Amino acid sequence: MIELDGVSRLFDGVPAVEGMSLRIERGEICVIVGTSGCGKSTTLKLLNRLLACSSGTIRIDGQDIAELDAERLRRRMGYAIQHTGLFPHWTVARNIGVVPRLLEWPAPRIEARVRELLELFGLPYASFADKFPSQLSGGQAQRVGVARALAGDPEILLMDEPFGALDPITRESLQNELLRIQARIHKTIVFVTHDLDEALKLASRIVVMDRGRIVQHDTPSRLLEQPANAFVENLFGQGERGLKRASLQRVGACMLPLQGAAPAVSVGAEDSLRQALSLMLWHRTGELCVRDAEGRALGVLPIGAVLQGPRA
Ligand SMILES: Nc1ncnc2c1ncn2[C@@H]1O[C@H](COP(=O)(O)OP(=O)(O)OP(=O)(O)O)[C@@H](O)[C@H]1O
Ligand SMILES: [Mg+2]
Repeated sequence: MIELDGVSRLFDGVPAVEGMSLRIERGEICVIVGTSGCGKSTTLKLLNRLLACSSGTIRIDGQDIAELDAERLRRRMGYAIQHTGLFPHWTVARNIGVVPRLLEWPAPRIEARVRELLELFGLPYASFADKFPSQLSGGQAQRVGVARALAGDPEILLMDEPFGALDPITRESLQNELLRIQARIHKTIVFVTHDLDEALKLASRIVVMDRGRIVQHDTPSRLLEQPANAFVENLFGQGERGLKRASLQRVGACMLPLQGAAPAVSVGAEDSLRQALSLMLWHRTGELCVRDAEGRALGVLPIGAVLQGPRA
């Protein structure tokens, strides 16, 4: 879907992005991580042509974006940024409808779309449509910012630390919303974050950047298991690796058949091994009952099965 081929961008002769080659497949969430100033935001701006490449080519669906009309290109791509970029003197509804209006959708279709998106993000239309950005909490404003990025039904969503300024609880609920929405609408998402747990949770594949270059492009579990170099290894925290990997693994993939009475403490089959381990530590037990969303006992998770990990 998106292809970067030897892309560089210089500012005053200094490279911010250098020799970047990358393929992002349709429907995946590609997360870009790396230290501050390594070129993450620049990369997103090259994709929607807010910035031009100094050299190299970016193709979308095989088409060189330099040959496309920049405005039309941007309408195919939602763009959500940390400080939401909402127009302060416009209502929430008008902010969300900006791209559909540019696309000249008829008014009833725009209203229906705004309504649908607000509901999707848990913001009831009746209470939020006519509010101004200054009347929203930070988390609500960020949700409106993401809703606006989705409004024109873009094929591609570029997200630059969209949940950056949020408390951990709101952040986690927005991450879950994004995964839930993505399971339904299958956009191609390029997502920039500083938060490595967020990256591991959301990504199909992660791009690690260092000083303008790609150091590794891999699945979350391969980044943890086989870091390309010491920089990647340190970035993902050597001492925390076991827990980070456990947070990627589902209880359901590790449980054993239930024999005899169900253990007193339960864990969800969809929960991570990290959550299971925490429950074991808290309740001082080495065995959990695994249940489905309806509460039916599916199996048992002894601590030995946690140590073993998912069975192939
Ligand atoms: N418009 C610009 N003019 C000059 N230099 C710029 C410009 N935009 C970015 N840079 C430089 O390019 C480099 C990469 O910046 P970029 O914003 O892509 O970093 P980043 O990885 O997004 O960092 P952060 O995590 O802090 O947001 C930095 O050294 C920055 O100073
Ligand atoms: Mg940035």
